[in-house]
Formats: sequence, C-alpha cells, structure tokens
Amino acid sequence: MSTPPVHPLTDDATTAARPAAGATPAADTAVVVLAAGQGTRFRSDTAKVLHRAAGRSLVGHVLEAARPLGFGQVVVVVGHQADAVRAEVEGLGVANLTTVVQHEQRGTGHAVQQAMPAIAPGIERVVVLAGDTPLLTSRWLEALLAATTDAPAAMLTAVLDDPTGYGRVLRGPSGTVDRIVEHKDATDDERTVAEINAGMYAVAHDLLVDALGRLDDDNAQGEIYLTDVVGILTGDGRPVAAIVAPEDVVAGVNDRAQLAAAATELRRARLHHLMTEVGVTIIDPASTHLDADVEVGRDAVLLPNTILESGTRIGARAVVGPNTHLSNCTVGDDATVHSTRGVDAVVGDGADVGPFAHLRAGTLLGARTKVGAYVETKNAAVGDGSKIPHLSYVGDATIGSDVNVACGVITVNYDGRTKAHTTIEDGAFVGCDTMLVAPVTVGAGAYTAAGSTITDDVPAGALAIARSRQTVKDGWASARRE
Ligand code: UD1
Ligand code: CA
Repeated sequence: MSTPPVHPLTDDATTAARPAAGATPAADTAVVVLAAGQGTRFRSDTAKVLHRAAGRSLVGHVLEAARPLGFGQVVVVVGHQADAVRAEVEGLGVANLTTVVQHEQRGTGHAVQQAMPAIAPGIERVVVLAGDTPLLTSRWLEALLAATTDAPAAMLTAVLDDPTGYGRVLRGPSGTVDRIVEHKDATDDERTVAEINAGMYAVAHDLLVDALGRLDDDNAQGEIYLTDVVGILTGDGRPVAAIVAPEDVVAGVNDRAQLAAAATELRRARLHHLMTEVGVTIIDPASTHLDADVEVGRDAVLLPNTILESGTRIGARAVVGPNTHLSNCTVGDDATVHSTRGVDAVVGDGADVGPFAHLRAGTLLGARTKVGAYVETKNAAVGDGSKIPHLSYVGDATIGSDVNVACGVITVNYDGRTKAHTTIEDGAFVGCDTMLVAPVTVGAGAYTAAGSTITDDVPAGALAIARSRQTVKDGWASARRE
C-alpha cells in the first residue's frame, strides 16, 4: 500500500509561521485535551496522564505545546482521578483553562461530547488532542491549524514501521482520507496500512457538534470513538486534510516502555536545542539527563553523568559535572559544580562547589563562594567570597561575606526538639573542628580557636577559645613502654 510523504515542514517555515509575542492567532479556536482515561496498560494506581516524562506530566507536555498558540479556550476532560488531574493542570498556569468531568469513560468521542457544552460562544474551530502524546510540538500544532484554512477539518497522521495498536488512516482511490479504523476493528488487510491516526484533529465547531451527535458504540470495544467523526465528515462530502508528521512527534504513550521511550526523546530534544540553538558544550549526551524545562547558558559545559531536573537553571560559562545531580537549583555564571547533589539551592556567580558537596533545600551561596568536599548545607545563606572548603555541616545559618569556615566545623542546630540559628558575621574565621552550639553568633572579624565548642556569642574582633587546656606529662610514654 502506498504511503504518503511527511509534510515538508521546515524550521524556517515554522519560524515564519510562529505567532508574534502577544498575538493570539488561535483566539477563535478552542483546544480540548482528553485526559479522563485510566490508562489500563500502565498497570498503575496513578492516572496515566499524571505520569511524568522528563520532569513534566504527560498532560503537561501537551498543554505546554498548546500554550504558545494562544488558544481562546483550553478545555481539559478529566475523569479517572479527576481531582488529581484537575489539580495538576490548574497548577500549570495555562490561560483560559476549564476542566470538564467525564464521569464514565465511554470512549474518546464520548469525552469530546462532554466538553462541547463548555465551549464558549464565538469559538469557530475546535482542536482535539489526547493527553498522552507528550512529544507533540507547537510547530506541528501550527501546521494542523494551517491545514484548516483550506479544509473544514484536518488531522495529524504518521507512517510507522510498527503501527500495531493505533487507528489506521484509510484513504480512497484518489488518495484523500476516507475514514479511520481502530486496530481492534480492522481487517488483516487494513492492519497492513502503515499510516496511523495521531489522535490530533482540528474541526470547524459546527461540523464537529453535528458529527458528535451521530456517533454510536457499535464497534469491537463498545466505545464511542472520536475517530468515527472523520468518516462522518467525509461521508457528508467534507474533506479531511491529513498532515503526515514524523513518528517522534505523534507517538502515544500507552505503557511504561513507551513512557521511557518518550522521556528519552524529550531529553534528546532538549540537549539538541541547547547544543545547536544556545551554544552549550555537552561532553556525553548519552549520560546527560535534562528535564524538558532546564535552561543552560551559552558556553556552559556539562560533563558526563549529569542529571539536571525540573526548575534548574545553569548560567553562562558554568561547568557542571561530572556526576552531578541538581533538582530545582540555580547555578550562576562562571560557577563550577563538581560531583554534587543539590536540591532547591542557589549557587552564585563564580562559585566553586564540590567535589562531593550536598546542597540541601534553602542553600544560598553567594558569588565566588567555595563549598568543598564532604560539606553539607541546609537553609544556609553564605555571603560573597566566603569559604567552607572541607568536611563541615552548615545548617540553619547566616554567614556573612569573606568568612573562612575551616575544616570540620559543625553548626549544632538541633537539640532534639527545636532547630536554632547560627550567625557568622563578615570576615570571621571559624577554626577547624569548631562546634557552634546554636543559637549563637560569631561577630565580624572574630576568630574561634580550633577544637572549640562555642556556646556563647563571640564579640566582633575577639578570639574565643573553648576547650580544656593541654596537660603535658614529661616522660610518661617512655616510662610506660619500659
Ligand atoms: C486513540 C485513537 C487512535 C489513535 C491513538 C493515537 C480513538 C478511538 N482511537 O487510541 O485512533 O491512533 O489514540 O494515540 O480515539 N480518553 C478519555 N476518555 C475516554 C477514553 C479516552 O478522556 O473515555 C483519553 C485518554 O485519557 C487518553 C486519550 O483519550 O489521553 C486517548 O485514549 P486512549 O485510550 O489512549 O486511545 P488509544 O487507544 O491510544
Ligand atoms: Ca493512547
């Protein structure tokens, strides 16, 4: 059977078609995202569309692809675990969002039927997307919309080596789309068709309402199929344009193997964007895992085995890795972060972190700070130019600028019941193996002697020594040996 060529969408064409900032070319168009299904094939207690790929829920990826198009309305159909799915989509800050409940999941056509009463007056065109196609991009959505300027309806398709499970696109003798047959309803001959329905459509509002009213559940699954809308439209003499997209864009995620494959593709796309569009050096893309929203600045270098999770921003010329795992962290320009775990932490410009540092939540390292090997920080603000080079725990602390925290210093912040704060003022020098029993303050420019257990505030400019005096017993060791 003949297979149609992929739509000649190029980067240049897309840039030209991209809406200018503030423009809302799709203001007369609503997008309906189907997210009510359980996702039986996931074998999960969590609704499928809430599973995450590259740091974002599946339904979140679809909504992010739609966001730049400025749709006049975004309707998400929820059902299985409705409250959790609603909370997820409402947390994404999508404009013009409504959710509609499909109480019983009777099929994709039934889901769209539930959405239609919520469509606002003035909407002339409806785009329907599935919540389980996280690889969809804005440019392919634009191509789908563009196709409805000459046709009352359009859909995205793809030609797959293995089309098993997908609905197949049946074309007539002249090559135009005739109808879609679901895999489970298809004859052996129809199953040889390699062109699949991506489950992404744009239809004139009134035609969609009419066709939805004529759906039935007379099929292998006893469901109300949205796909039958295509055959109803063409049967009425309304052509349905098919835009053939690459497999990487339209792949649906129905099980965890497909989830892993989609996540791999999302990460690959992010790395490719950073290398080609931003100018980031990535030494080993295969071992560098970036979530879809991670930003990295120009001329930064990512070394092997680096995992940068959602919310992380890396500055220009920073060097991160190897063996570094950062979640929701900000790393400044020209900083170095080597073999480090960081969560909800900020690393200032030109700072030098690691190897083997653990930056816990609430760590704020100033510019040109140094946090070295086996140092753990938590809820700690460290001023510009300060150094904590080795083997220390700094928690619930405020450290001024140009402070030296020598080896093996511990903020004793917890008495078994409450956490207390330590303050170290500008220019102080905290000697090796000092215990700072909080609440306590070391004043500006003050010193603590090595091995001190500091329980009282140290005034600015003072030296505090808090340890027992050394006793020397002459000849004791030699006498014992004899
Ligand atoms: C659907 C298409 C198939 C297409 C494939 C593309 C139909 C009948 N089939 O099949 O032609 O090749 O997508 O990926 O449309 N959903 C609801 N309510 C329901 C049922 C489903 O909201 O009652 C949602 C699901 O949560 C999911 C989406 O619709 O996000 C698609 O449903 P799914 O069951 O995955 O459809 P497929 O079998 O993949
Ligand atoms: Ca699916």
